Amino acid sequence: MAPASKDVFTVHHRVTEADRARANGHRGGILWFTGLSGAGKSTLAIELEKALFGRGYRVYTLDGDNVRQGLSADLGFSPEDRTENIRRIGEVAALFAEAGMIVITAFISPYRADRERIRARHPGYFSEIFINAPLEVCEARDKKGLYRRARAGEVKEFTGVSAPYEAPLAPEVEVRTDLSGVEACLAQLLQYVDRTLRLPAAEGAGLRGPQQAGG
Ligand code: ADX
Repeated sequence: MAPASKDVFTVHHRVTEADRARANGHRGGILWFTGLSGAGKSTLAIELEKALFGRGYRVYTLDGDNVRQGLSADLGFSPEDRTENIRRIGEVAALFAEAGMIVITAFISPYRADRERIRARHPGYFSEIFINAPLEVCEARDKKGLYRRARAGEVKEFTGVSAPYEAPLAPEVEVRTDLSGVEACLAQLLQYVDRTLRLPAAEGAGLRGPQQAGG
């Protein structure tokens, strides 16, 4: 999105991204989780955050239900509102990544075009992580009771029931939460982060390995 005013300028930092990465031992990045409600996005985001923090990564999770109580409190679930929600999260996530952090985002983010827009704006940071479980499995879990209420017509425009979900076509990582347990999914995600964002010890501050990571 172009700024509404033409009279805005860019300020350049004197602490570079490379400076931050060296100090942290890893690069900044956005781990963009996408998937149906009940697929396991929040659970895995919170577990991954804890595991990465334990290894010395600077990491923070932005979660749909939380963000919708503040930053996006004015937005509902119409297609336009979801698009605006995802745009805001994408920009906030990119700020975290520029600050050198790893940000995990846990939003349904049902529209492919919305996710691709973030990738296009922040190509160096964005990784799409498909938290995948079939609709029937998510619906059977129904931890929040929202699928039942959506089927009863009490919750409108509910993703998977009365609103679309567009699955990623080429995600960087896909985890199947119906086929693998939390630990196995977590191992897959940790391996991806270690491989793509961690600096070799010689270049960075050095992070703790899995064996030294606290609980
Ligand atoms: S998104 O589509 O804009 O990415 P987001 O992840 O922020 O959605 O919010 C999804 C959460 O809001 C769900 O986990 C669920 O708890 C709640 N929710 C309430 N109404 C709906 C709805 N109509 N569709 C999907 N999720 C809903």
